[in-house]
Amino acid sequence: MLDWTDRHYRYFARLMSRHTLLYTEMVTTGAIIHGKGDYLGYNEQEHPLALQLGGSDPADLALCAKRAQELGYDEINLNVGCPSDRVQNGRFGACLMAEPTLVARCVDAMRQAVDLPVTVKTRIGIDDQDSYEFLTQFIDTVSAAGCDSFTIHARKAWLSGLSPKENREIPPLDYERAYQLKRDYPALTLALNGGIKTLQECQTHLQHLNGVMVGREAYQNPYLLAAVDREIYGCDTPAVDRRAVVEMMVPYVERHLAGGGRVNHVTRHMLGLFNGLPGARTWRRTLSERAHHADATPALLLEAMAHVGEPLEDAAG
Ligand SMILES: Cc1cc2nc3c(=O)[nH]c(=O)nc-3n(C[C@H](O)[C@H](O)[C@H](O)COP(=O)(O)O)c2cc1C
Repeated sequence: MLDWTDRHYRYFARLMSRHTLLYTEMVTTGAIIHGKGDYLGYNEQEHPLALQLGGSDPADLALCAKRAQELGYDEINLNVGCPSDRVQNGRFGACLMAEPTLVARCVDAMRQAVDLPVTVKTRIGIDDQDSYEFLTQFIDTVSAAGCDSFTIHARKAWLSGLSPKENREIPPLDYERAYQLKRDYPALTLALNGGIKTLQECQTHLQHLNGVMVGREAYQNPYLLAAVDREIYGCDTPAVDRRAVVEMMVPYVERHLAGGGRVNHVTRHMLGLFNGLPGARTWRRTLSERAHHADATPALLLEAMAHVGEPLEDAAG
């Protein structure tokens, strides 16, 4: 998720779940090929890690996929779900649902270039093209190019008239459509995305599909992740304590500062860690108000945590 699942959030998330597959923000081929920033940098601890690419030029995507493979990413995911104007102007994201043959060529080019899994994240339709047949035609064409794993954001996107945020809220969710897809394409690996807030909901969807992708809830209520290894992956490891997570983030923030960064680059992703506990608001406020100061130190995390009361329940709650 753009601006949210950067390397700092992913490092933090990984402390709570060993097995969850984490995704980068969408990175465009243009940024990777022509940009000056370190768009593909990550910490080794983040694995398993998928790079999500935005683009529609097969050769550019192949080049970026190759670079990602050299850097050790575990999966390449192509974005066919983002409806923003900027992305549409670049002829990628959700508007690519109308061009399944081009998506197939993109997938094929990337698969030729790398040994990694190449997957696609898509909506269930765009604008008035929202029939089940439109979706299956897309899946047929793209899977024929060798993509055998899709994440389905189970709502359509309006390509004009709605902001990206509205496009995550207004078009209704249709989980049944994703379930139907799995019944009709049993050989494909299909994961569901959209509106999932609890691990119980995950369990329900996993009775119909191969995977679930949780976006906003995993960001806004990150401690959800602490129960995933046990409840979803069946591990018997106990959930990590929230306080232990904060303590493990202190040396990470120290390293980030030593590299010229600021405390809030990291802590802005941690604001929801204590949601639901006494003192959570003071934790959030302390970090929000002080972590961006040039003289803020990692000790601010411990100071902010001192306001938080004892957890009332563990991660399974
Ligand atoms: C701030 C923000 C940024 C997002 N950026 C991306 C992105 O880069 N790539 C993508 O595939 N989806 C992106 N999304 C959409 C989410 O991945 C997801 O499909 C959507 O929020 C619905 O799932 P959820 O209800 O679990 O959040 C973004 C969502 C938010 C809130």
